[in-house]
Amino acid sequence: MKNKFKVLIADDEPSVRELLRNILEDVGVLEIEEAEDGESALSLINGQGFDLIFLDIKMPKTDGMSVLKELSQSGNMPRIIVITAFGDFSTALQAMGLGAFDYLNKPFDIEEIKNQTLRVMHLKELEEEVKSLRRKFPEAREFREQIVGRSEKMLEIIKTVGRIAPSPVTVLIMGESGTGKELIARAIHGASPRREGLFLPVNCAAIPETLLESELFGYEKGAFTGAQVRTPGKFELADGGTIFLDEIGDMSLSLQAKVLRVLQDKTFMRIGGKEPVTVDVRVIAATNQDIEEMVRMGRFREDLYYRLNVCLLKIPPLRERREDIEELTYYFLEKYSREYGKQVNRVTPETMEKLLTYSWPGNVRELENYVARAVASSAAQVLTPEDFPLPEEKMEKGEIPLLPLAKATEELEKRLIKEALEVAGGNQTQAARILQISRQTLATKIKEYGIKID
Ligand SMILES: Nc1ncnc2c1ncn2[C@@H]1O[C@H](COP(=O)(O)OP(=O)(O)OP(=O)(O)O)[C@@H](O)[C@H]1O
Ligand SMILES: [Mg+2]
Repeated sequence: MKNKFKVLIADDEPSVRELLRNILEDVGVLEIEEAEDGESALSLINGQGFDLIFLDIKMPKTDGMSVLKELSQSGNMPRIIVITAFGDFSTALQAMGLGAFDYLNKPFDIEEIKNQTLRVMHLKELEEEVKSLRRKFPEAREFREQIVGRSEKMLEIIKTVGRIAPSPVTVLIMGESGTGKELIARAIHGASPRREGLFLPVNCAAIPETLLESELFGYEKGAFTGAQVRTPGKFELADGGTIFLDEIGDMSLSLQAKVLRVLQDKTFMRIGGKEPVTVDVRVIAATNQDIEEMVRMGRFREDLYYRLNVCLLKIPPLRERREDIEELTYYFLEKYSREYGKQVNRVTPETMEKLLTYSWPGNVRELENYVARAVASSAAQVLTPEDFPLPEEKMEKGEIPLLPLAKATEELEKRLIKEALEVAGGNQTQAARILQISRQTLATKIKEYGIKID
């Protein structure tokens, strides 16, 4: 794998290129190309696929930021680590907003460069594993082509899906609303030997308790007024297939006991029935609630939780895997262009910056809705920030450097604070000024993140 890993170093200073080359060779990278300005960097990038690019911001002819902007419109952004001057946060933030993978400050911290490189190498390995997994399940459409993602977290999830799909193991999927729980559940079913059987979703939150019981387990003739014929429930109908218990956190304790019984001995009673019914059903459950907390409060059965918990998939919110935003955006652009018979296939760099820095409380569904609306209403081929009237719109233009800071991942925030403290020689007032936040906010964050000051 190491010899297939291709890196481009784009920096106008020969000494910097040499230093980076030495570090890269140290971690075993064999294919290294160099460029001394933005223009030659771009032509090299367009000609071949790089797994990692070190990109200096200050370069003659085309500078690094323009290279980033150009690439951010491609829909297939390589992993880029930008090189900025020491303490130049706003440039680093702008680059991250344009989809850079990470940034480096001069003078270099050699260990950091090694770690970043190893991280990207690991990601590439994961990507290749996932690619071969996708090939392994040609029948599972969801699995093969619909789960988009290139962040480490998503790649790990896709890998797990491939690993657990073939067995009948019960799965619990946790994640905020709109993170893709149902999509993942369908993918597991589609890649399992039961794919010819039914995939039956039941939304436990949407149905009142008594109805939910008959919906799940069915009833005998005469079980209650109006029960005129014996009616099978979802568990019976899903025999040989998969049942998807969505919002399982909303299920009553008494129904939970019945579901537990199905999981334990594959049997249940129809309402009003005397004979147990036996079924072969795989159960996938999902929730956006904190089930562990519910167990502590006595609102969810502990034994059922342990049964479901055999295989737990936690899907992180979109704001914790921003690396997926660009690919998802282009995926939805294509999907809705096709659906609406249009050809909207790009967004401007400013638009991508806006999408990358928004917090997406409604996760992937929210992003999908925005893209769908933008495609539907746009007359142009390229979308602009105005096509995405996100709630953050009220922010003043002048506050832009503050916006990514507030929305950035914890990790980025932590790093920025550490760097600011370093520049300020440990002086918190000065560090707060650099970060453009109040001293109070800085103090709170230092405490929250447990940052040590020396
Ligand atoms: N990784 C992804 N790749 C492509 N599309 C995705 C991805 N994740 C989610 N989506 C899409 O986003 C939408 C919402 O996903 P889904 O319905 O699976 O979310 P959910 O977690 O079940 O949400 P809720 O909790 O609101 O029911 C769907 O249209 C789904 O196809
Ligand atoms: Mg759902």
